[in-house]
Amino acid sequence: METKVSEIADGIFRLSTHVPELGSPRGFTFNQFLVKGEEPLMFHTGLCKMFELNREAVGRIIPPEKLRWIAYGHFEADECGAMNEWLSIAPHATAAQGETGVMVSLNDFADRPARSLKDGEVIDLGGKRVRFIDTPHTPHGWDAGVLLEVTTNTLLCGDLFTQFGNETALTDGDIVGPAIEAEDFFKFSSLNPGMGDTLRLLSKLEPAKLALMHGPTFEGDGGAALRNLANDYDRRIRNVSPGLRQAA
Ligand SMILES: [Fe+2]
Ligand SMILES: [Fe+2]
Repeated sequence: METKVSEIADGIFRLSTHVPELGSPRGFTFNQFLVKGEEPLMFHTGLCKMFELNREAVGRIIPPEKLRWIAYGHFEADECGAMNEWLSIAPHATAAQGETGVMVSLNDFADRPARSLKDGEVIDLGGKRVRFIDTPHTPHGWDAGVLLEVTTNTLLCGDLFTQFGNETALTDGDIVGPAIEAEDFFKFSSLNPGMGDTLRLLSKLEPAKLALMHGPTFEGDGGAALRNLANDYDRRIRNVSPGLRQAA
């Protein structure tokens, strides 16, 4: 396995590792994102077993020990499995997540005290700013959230739009169809009546880029992509809930 590094927006780097044998004949990709401010931030740690790959890849951009923030979307191995490995090599790094995630998991899991972020709270990285946005149970996890890099209007959207394969780092093609295919296969989302509205709230940010954890970074009409994904989740929820089907 190798980890490719691409700058997907000004000062935002995608560290991408493709696992050919996972998920489908096209394999599955794990991406981490490094936001290079005066206080560099990494969004998701990657799997514990991929730590050395990701450390080497971060080292192509900054000295890894300079990391200041380590954030992630929700508590899961690919999101935060290597948290303590990163904390051990970056002595000034602080783990950061939403209030639910810190209360439920991070306070116990992380080797150092974590920073608890309110919904909408901004961390100034110096040259870059990131806003944490709660998205409970969307696509899964009570503690789920996403991160918006404000200066580039790039939404680091974690598992949203998960797809198979090993696309180019950037695409302006369709990301909703591939996400529907992956949802049909994995059934990874916690289908709940609030999903559509959660995604429609995100769509109001009209992101210029959607940085997928498992897929390419989309550049184009991010708001429309989020609304289309919201509509597909609404369709799924109507199909599993007779009451909602009647109300529709
Ligand atoms: Fe996940
Ligand atoms: Fe993930």
